[in-house]
Amino acid sequence: MISCLLSIVITVKIQHVSYSEELVSCVGWTTADELYSCSEDHQILRWNLLTSETSLVVKLQEDLFPIDLHWFPKTVGGKKQAQAEIFVLTSTDGKFHLASKMGRIEKSVEAHKGAVLAGRWNYDGTALITAGEDGQIKIWSKSGMLRSTLAQQGSPVYSVAWGPDSDRILYTSGRLLIIKPLQPSAKLLQWKAHEGIILKVDWNSVNDLILSSGEDCKYKVWDSYGRLLYTSSSHDYPVTSVSWSPDGEVFAVGSFNTLRLCDKTGWSYALEKPNTGSVFSLAWSADGTQLAGACGNGHVIFAHVVEQRWEWRSFEITLTKRRTMQVRNVVNDAGDVLEFRDRVIKASLAHGHLVVTTSLQCYVYSATNWNTPLIFDLKEGTVSLIVQAEKHFLLVDGTGVYVFSYEGRLISTPRFPGMRTDILNAQSVSLSNDTIAIRDKSDEKVIFLFDALTGKALGDGKPLTHKMEVVEIALDQCGPSSDRKIAVIDKNRDLYLTAVHRLYREHNICKIGTMVHTMAWNDSANILCGIQDTQFTVWHYPSAVFTDKDLLPKTLYMKDASEFSRAPHILNYVGTQVTVRRCDGSLVYSSVSPYPALLHEYSASSRWEDALRLCRFAKDQSLWACLAGMAMANRELTTAEVAYAAIGEVDKVQYINSIKDMPSKESSVAHMLLFSGHVQEAEATLLQAGLVYQTIQVHINLYNWDRALELAVKHKTHVDTVLAYRLKFLQDFSKKETNKRFMQYADGVEVDWEKIQAKVEMELVKEREKAATTSVRSSLASRR
Ligand SMILES: *[C@@H]1O[C@H](CO)[C@@H](O)[C@H](O)[C@H]1NC(C)=O
Ligand SMILES: *[C@@H]1O[C@H](CO)[C@@H](O)[C@H](O)[C@H]1NC(C)=O
Repeated sequence: MISCLLSIVITVKIQHVSYSEELVSCVGWTTADELYSCSEDHQILRWNLLTSETSLVVKLQEDLFPIDLHWFPKTVGGKKQAQAEIFVLTSTDGKFHLASKMGRIEKSVEAHKGAVLAGRWNYDGTALITAGEDGQIKIWSKSGMLRSTLAQQGSPVYSVAWGPDSDRILYTSGRLLIIKPLQPSAKLLQWKAHEGIILKVDWNSVNDLILSSGEDCKYKVWDSYGRLLYTSSSHDYPVTSVSWSPDGEVFAVGSFNTLRLCDKTGWSYALEKPNTGSVFSLAWSADGTQLAGACGNGHVIFAHVVEQRWEWRSFEITLTKRRTMQVRNVVNDAGDVLEFRDRVIKASLAHGHLVVTTSLQCYVYSATNWNTPLIFDLKEGTVSLIVQAEKHFLLVDGTGVYVFSYEGRLISTPRFPGMRTDILNAQSVSLSNDTIAIRDKSDEKVIFLFDALTGKALGDGKPLTHKMEVVEIALDQCGPSSDRKIAVIDKNRDLYLTAVHRLYREHNICKIGTMVHTMAWNDSANILCGIQDTQFTVWHYPSAVFTDKDLLPKTLYMKDASEFSRAPHILNYVGTQVTVRRCDGSLVYSSVSPYPALLHEYSASSRWEDALRLCRFAKDQSLWACLAGMAMANRELTTAEVAYAAIGEVDKVQYINSIKDMPSKESSVAHMLLFSGHVQEAEATLLQAGLVYQTIQVHINLYNWDRALELAVKHKTHVDTVLAYRLKFLQDFSKKETNKRFMQYADGVEVDWEKIQAKVEMELVKEREKAATTSVRSSLASRR
């Protein structure tokens, strides 16, 4: 399975249902096993899921009808908050209250006219936002002092959410959604989102996606630019609640007698029809394993996610209970049961290993032995992300990023200033045997690159900066570390490829696709697959773009994916089959050729004869195009010539032929660089070898007149050659000289083609002789 794309199947199990007397309006978790609920009978109840006990925390005064509850953030940037044990409670009388864990109201503040419909702390606990029936939105300090009134409008604000950096808020205004930056001068973004009043919104800090639901009986997923990513069909009743799981992989939806679990693309995994009335509010525990709902009939429902499934090669692993996994090998139907001391929080299966984290420990299994896992204790907090490479894996928790070997040894802990680990996800972190890439959050154009073994920044320590915000990154997994490449999808959905090393030299960042929704590298060859607009695309040899841009389109496999319908999702890519899930949930299979992977293998081991034989056998133009690119990249000119001939590129065949006839090795290297469009590198190669005339000739051929003249003047040679070619060029195009420098040097220089040709001839003879003596000298040296 391709590790960066999710292939899990989830079911919600409603664990138990209990009730108070009247409508429950809100719920909030204190720990992974303890929940507070507030209901219209003025009770605050505490639910302990370990002991299954429910106790009354406090009975509030008779005129206090609670609406919303939100706990002060527990940890900020990995540090425990001193003031963690309070929550905000909003009520129908226009007040909000700061209450202690014991239920004591520490402070009540007059905030709005009419009910306070929502109250939310920001991520670092430095501000509280409240929204009122009076159409106002206010910001308060931690201690409940009014800072400002952020918005004022004619209709009630039913729901608010903070943006991932706590620098913007999202709120409802009738049928509109509005994103307002806190910075007064910044522009607000608003759009019509529903056909009825919007009742709930949520904004996930990890995936930056927005949920909304409303009286039009629909729920929708948006990106933070207001672009619609998913809309549900119409339900029978208004959708009264939506809530993201903390890691942003799934979300829950509540309606009348309905609880639904969806993945972030909107696809619904599970639908339960509990007898609850409307589910007014939903809350996930911080570790994302449990969900609670506040129900109209006085019930509080609890759900947890089970039957999550992971697949790799022939293995299928299912979380059957909260502490139990079932392993099945579909080849021989062998089964194993894995038991854990604590609840499973995260798991990942790839590269022959299963990595499981519970609240306290990490378990590492090898697919060859399910009986004796390696177990080590986790130092701090809850693991929010596991990323695997063949050699090692990486864990992210609230305090940092840790690379471990499969033997459980801590290998490195990459960091950069201002790193926020709570929002890292599979799209913003990538790992290969040698490299770690992490996209920055404060500046989403920036990607930090680290050596996986030391955790130190790569090269000169400068991060890779793209010209636009980056939404997804993925390192390729094969080949030597010096060739490591990173694929990047930016905000415009353009896909780029660049080398991780030598970033500032040979390779630029090259565009290889547009409108790319999703991508994944194969793990056994550097083949990339993705969905591009309505095409399912396989980039059989993406690096072709570095040797010959024109070749890239010829190396692709594309298949119309409109049959996959809108927003398809690649589930896995195993063997020669790709499984894609359409947004209606059905699966579509697509086969992929096995030959490109074989060709990668031949090229990596310089088995060019085998590669040619394979291409002749497969008779596939895209395979020949891949071989042309691979051979050129490896300076294997004979094979390249055959491959280019097979795809009818006569010009390129001739060029390669001329490269083979170059008088010296330096000249052929330079021309191979020119072939790939690397003019500066070609110039440097020639000048370093003292081949000044050849450098000048290269610039003449490229019509780089100024540079040609500059070099000629600087080295006091072939000024007349440059002038002669320039004159010929002007005559061919019936133009007049307008270039001042050329006008200046043309004065008094006689153009004599015979003389020039003789000089050029001499240069070539000299180059050949020099090349011959060097090769004799080196062969003598090697004989010694
Ligand atoms: C990655 O590491 C594994 C384990 O050390 C090794 O077998 C594999 O060849 C490595 N792959 C690459 C591309 O270096
Ligand atoms: C990568 O491609 C090869 C060859 O097509 C295939 O056998 C393998 O299963 C693929 N790996 C993944 C992880 O999809």
